[in-house]
Amino acid sequence: MNDDLAAHQFAEAVSGLAPVALRAAATLRLADHILAGHDHLSALAERTAADPDLLERLMQFLVCRQIFDEPQHGVYGLTGLSTALLDGHPSRLRSWLDQSGMGARLDAATTSLLQALRTGQPPYPELYGKTFYEDLAAHPSGVTFDGLRSHHAKSFAGELVQAYPWPTDGHVVDLGGGAGVLLDALMRTYPRLRSTLLDLPDAAHAATERLTAAGHGDRFTVLAGSFFEPLPPGDMYTLVNVLHNWNDDNTVRILRGCAEAADRHTVVLVVERLLDQGDPYAMTSMDLGMFLFLGGRERTLSRYRELATAAGLVHMGTTEVPAGLYILAFAPGPRLLKV
Ligand SMILES: C[S@@+](CC[C@H](N)C(=O)[O-])C[C@H]1O[C@@H](n2cnc3c(N)ncnc32)[C@H](O)[C@@H]1O
Repeated sequence: MNDDLAAHQFAEAVSGLAPVALRAAATLRLADHILAGHDHLSALAERTAADPDLLERLMQFLVCRQIFDEPQHGVYGLTGLSTALLDGHPSRLRSWLDQSGMGARLDAATTSLLQALRTGQPPYPELYGKTFYEDLAAHPSGVTFDGLRSHHAKSFAGELVQAYPWPTDGHVVDLGGGAGVLLDALMRTYPRLRSTLLDLPDAAHAATERLTAAGHGDRFTVLAGSFFEPLPPGDMYTLVNVLHNWNDDNTVRILRGCAEAADRHTVVLVVERLLDQGDPYAMTSMDLGMFLFLGGRERTLSRYRELATAAGLVHMGTTEVPAGLYILAFAPGPRLLKV
């Protein structure tokens, strides 16, 4: 690569403009307006209540980066990239980027990376005076954000159900189970399975609605509470995409709670991505994001095993799920080990 090209690519990579321009395009729903036939600059400006001159300049910025096409002067079309910005795209990328939602609050926390490097503290609570989950509960767009998470959960729940030998007539306790997508899938597949979901009040409410509407009757219990308190009994505890939200101390606390509530037949399933597996771009950005938003982190299998050992659990095996997740199975082992 010659020096000019390297400098050009570097300048593009470090410019803060492209992320901001893409977020503006997503928030204004430019792709959806174009798809609906409002593809002339004047129609787009009217639909989005944007200044026409500045909107044209934004479109020029995006067209030369192949986000949109401009088949005629002032008339725009979609490209393979901008189809991902359509509201109905399976990735739900538009909603994640929408600056009227939680995306803007998350973005603001990412701009505090340098401060976080100096303080070692996650910036989200500093910025908003609340932890991420407290802020989510207090913020009007939290409902949309929970909807996005449930959409994500639907993308992998079926694979989790298929990938693991679940206790077909036992009792699964899903800790931080969100809106109940996994338990719904499990109870549909195994008609004798019973379940308990434990989560914060908003998620617990959404889970009650989902599991009731699905007709699971009295086979489930939903508890609004915290997994830092003593846990209800069960044959299996599941922690799906939960532990990466937490620092090592809190992760050991959560796992220890499972170990203390377990009897010798109980299985604890941790379902997470692994830092050294899969796409390093995605994993390293998830890792930094987990810290900035929540003080959490992504981990390798050996790190999860160490933390589980400190919590009094023994690693029994690992199952890879096609969605890129790993199911780590633990059983109660020698208790009262120090962190
Ligand atoms: C990343 S989401 C994962 C949700 C779900 N397991 C999934 O994979 O889609 C983490 C969940 O932990 C819940 N959570 C956060 N703090 C909690 C606490 N102290 N006790 C119980 N649940 C909590 C959140 O409300 C959220 O539903």
